[in-house]
Amino acid sequence: MWRASVLTILPDIFPGPLGASLAGKALTSGAWSLEVVDIRAFATDKHRTVDDTPAGGGPGMVMKADVLARAIDATATDRRPRLLLSPRGVPLTQTRVEALARGDGAVLVCGRFEGVDERVIAARGLEEVSIGDYVLSGGEIAAMVLIDSCVRLLPGVMGTAASGAEESFNGGLLEYPHYTRPQNWEGRAIPAVLLSGDHAKIAAWRRAEAEKLTRGRRPDLWASFLRHSKAGSGTE
Ligand SMILES: C[S@@+](CC[C@H](N)C(=O)[O-])C[C@H]1O[C@@H](n2cnc3c(N)ncnc32)[C@H](O)[C@@H]1O
Repeated sequence: MWRASVLTILPDIFPGPLGASLAGKALTSGAWSLEVVDIRAFATDKHRTVDDTPAGGGPGMVMKADVLARAIDATATDRRPRLLLSPRGVPLTQTRVEALARGDGAVLVCGRFEGVDERVIAARGLEEVSIGDYVLSGGEIAAMVLIDSCVRLLPGVMGTAASGAEESFNGGLLEYPHYTRPQNWEGRAIPAVLLSGDHAKIAAWRRAEAEKLTRGRRPDLWASFLRHSKAGSGTE
């Protein structure tokens, strides 16, 4: 079973959206498990303090190394990757999500305040992972994003096995556009090729649309796609 352990000072917000729809059903059916660890339970003073003022001064508070280390030591007793959600981290990609989903799960540490004492990151081998170039107020939503993206890839979780194979980022392209009935809506028709029943033509159209979208919206992905296609065809 794929196991997620989340260390947070806000345990009550889990499972949140992870308890609904695909992820929620998979949680109930035992395709994955969720352990939520309250970091505050590892504080030793009567106020259950988890943060302190930054060394060197400056705004905000810093999560204390000693308290967080005790929470990690009590939780991460196996070989699952230990990830700290952090805007400074390596950006999360679908390739990484696929690799994580193939493993045993993950231990996810949610930061709060200005961040986490650097020493616990080093001492407990936390790998910093970012869900994008913007700053959230805490790591919990980022942890939910990471878990959701992994859980939907677990065997049997998605309705149709193929729906994972044709998605955005698969093969390095964004996904083609989708349509469904009615055939005409507000004067806009479904592209005729999709109603032709010609599977080869439909596949070619979808491929061309995926390439056009990727080229227009994500020049970075497009450049990488071109590099990989050239390498694959042996021209580089
Ligand atoms: C207010 S943020 C701290 C930002 C930090 N002072 C900085 O400038 O890098 C508090 C916590 O939210 C989480 N967080 C914020 N943005 C994130 C992102 N883009 N990806 C993952 N986690 C994020 C991290 O756990 C972080 O410790």
